[in-house]
Amino acid sequence: MQLSLLAPLLCLLPANALVIPDAASVLSQLSLSTEKSVQIPFLLLWFSSTDKSEKEEANFEKWLASQKNQSFHYILQNIGGILTVLDTKEVAPGVVIASPLKNHPNYFYNWIRDSALTIRSLISQLEDDPSGDSDYLKKVIEDYILVNYHLQRLPNKSGKFDDNTRSGLGEPKFMADGTTFDEHWGRPQSDGPGLRVVTITDYLDLLEKRNEVVHSDFLGNRTFIYREIVKPDLEYVLANWNIEAFDLWEEIDALHFFNSLTMMRALSEGRRLAEAEDETAEFINRLDETFKNLKSFITDPRTGFAPSTLPFIVETPKLKQQGRRGGLDAATLLAALHSHEVDGRDTNTIPFDVDDHRILNTLLYMVSDMKYRYPVNHDNIRIEQNIGVGLGRYPEDVYDGYGTSEGNPWFISTASAAEVVLRMIYKTLEKKSDLVISSNNREFFSVFMKDLFENQMPDGNIVLPYGSQRYKLLMYGLYDYSDTFLKVIMNHVDSNNGRMSEQFNKFDGYMQGAEDLTWSYLSFYNCARWRLKVYGLILNMA
Ligand code: NOJ
Ligand code: NOJ
Repeated sequence: MQLSLLAPLLCLLPANALVIPDAASVLSQLSLSTEKSVQIPFLLLWFSSTDKSEKEEANFEKWLASQKNQSFHYILQNIGGILTVLDTKEVAPGVVIASPLKNHPNYFYNWIRDSALTIRSLISQLEDDPSGDSDYLKKVIEDYILVNYHLQRLPNKSGKFDDNTRSGLGEPKFMADGTTFDEHWGRPQSDGPGLRVVTITDYLDLLEKRNEVVHSDFLGNRTFIYREIVKPDLEYVLANWNIEAFDLWEEIDALHFFNSLTMMRALSEGRRLAEAEDETAEFINRLDETFKNLKSFITDPRTGFAPSTLPFIVETPKLKQQGRRGGLDAATLLAALHSHEVDGRDTNTIPFDVDDHRILNTLLYMVSDMKYRYPVNHDNIRIEQNIGVGLGRYPEDVYDGYGTSEGNPWFISTASAAEVVLRMIYKTLEKKSDLVISSNNREFFSVFMKDLFENQMPDGNIVLPYGSQRYKLLMYGLYDYSDTFLKVIMNHVDSNNGRMSEQFNKFDGYMQGAEDLTWSYLSFYNCARWRLKVYGLILNMA
C-alpha cells in the first residue's frame, strides 16, 4: 500500500513527544512527493516511536524539565561555600565533592576530573541564561579557580608543583577541606590538568564575550589566571602527554583515549589563551608541536586506538593487546563529548567528534553488548535496534559501587550515549549538512534507515540532502533514539525526588553505589540541555 493511502490514518496516531505537528506535515509532504517508493514498512518507524500514549509522552517531557532543574540543584548542593548544606570547615569554598557519602563508599573527596566537569556545566548554565543570577554562579566558579590555585601547589603523592614535569598536577583527588589525600590510590591520573584548562578557558571566554571582568581580588585578572593556573597545567600536558597514567575509572595504568583526546582540547584552548596573553613564540610552538604529536598518536592505527581492523575505538590499547579487554568503553563517548564543542568554539581540528563513525560505532556496539549483558535491559530488546538501554562503563567491569562483584549500568554512561546522539544531530542540522552514509557509518545508520528504504538500502554511498523527507525522518528517528536512553534514566532515578546514585543494579534496577553522585547529575543536566537546543533546530528544519 502506498503511504498516501495511509495518510489520513496517520493523523490519528497518538502525539509523539517530539514532532507531531511537524511529523504530520512531513508525512503529508511525503504522500504528495515523487518518492513513490516510500511504502508501508517505514511506517513501522512511526508506530514504533508513537505507540506510547500521549499521556506518557507528556509525563516524560514534564519529568525531563523537572529532572534538569533538580539535577542542577543537587550539583550546587555538592559544592562548598554555596548552599548551607555543606559545612565550609569540611568542604572548602569552590570544592566539588563527588558525593556526600562518607562511607560505603567514601566519595567525600574532591576529584580534579569530576570538579572540572561540574564547573563546566555551571558555565554552560551561565551561557544559556544570561539574565539569571550570574554573580552567584560567577562566585562559585571563581572559588573553584581559586581553590585549584592552592591545590596545584600542594606537594602530594603524585609529586610536586615545581619540578620540571609539574608531576604534582597529576594527583587525582584531594580532601574536601583542601588538604592532600595521602592513601594508596591509582595515581597519577593524567586527565585532570587538561580538563581544568578547558573549564577555566571556558569561563574566561564567557567573561570576554560579556565584556565582564574577574571578580575575585585574589585572582585579579585573566593574565594572572593564565600565568599562574592555566600555564602550569599546560606544562603538565606538554611533559606528560605520552606517559602511562591511570584512566578516568582509576583502574588501569596505561595510555588512554579519554586522557589523550581531552589533552588535545586543552592544548587547543590553551593555545588561544596563550596567544591572547602574548605568550612567547617558543611556548606557543611547543603547544603546537605537542598538539600535532598527540593528533598523529591518537589517529595512527598502529597505536591501537583506531585500528583498521575494528569499527570502534579501543579506549585502552594495552589491555586489548594483552587480551584483557575488547576495547569498548563509555570513556570513549565521554572523550568525544568533552573534547569538542559543537556550538561556538571551533574544535574541528580535534579528531573523533560525535559524528565520527568510530564514535558512533562505539555507541552501537556498547548497546549491542549491554542489552544482553544486563538483565534489566532485557525488556528493551527488540528486533529493531533503534532502542537505547542502560549502559555500563565497559563490558568487563566488575566494580559494583562498593567493591568488586559484577558491573552494572551507570547513569553517566547512559546519559552520555543520549548526548552523543543529540550532539551529532545538532552538528548536522546546525551546519545544514547533507547526511552522507558511506561504508564507514553505514552500520550505525542502517539501524534507522531500513524503514526509510523498505529494508533495501541502496548499495554504495547514500546522500540524504539536508531537509529532504528521508533526512527529516532519519533525524526524528535519531532524536527518538536519544530519548530512549533518557527514558531508561527516568525509570531508575528516585521517582520521589530525582536523586541519582552512580549505578543501577543490573538485575533489579535499583540504584546503588555512591549516592547523589555529582557526575550523574551533571551528565544528565548536559544531556537535557542539548536536547533543548536540538529541539529548536529540529522544529526549524527547512
Ligand atoms: C574506586 C574507583 O573510583 C572506581 O572507578 C574503581 O572501579 C574502584 N575504585 C575499584 O578499583
Ligand atoms: C569513580 C569514577 O570511576 C571516577 O571516574 C570518578 O572520578 C570517581 N568515581 C568520583 O566520582
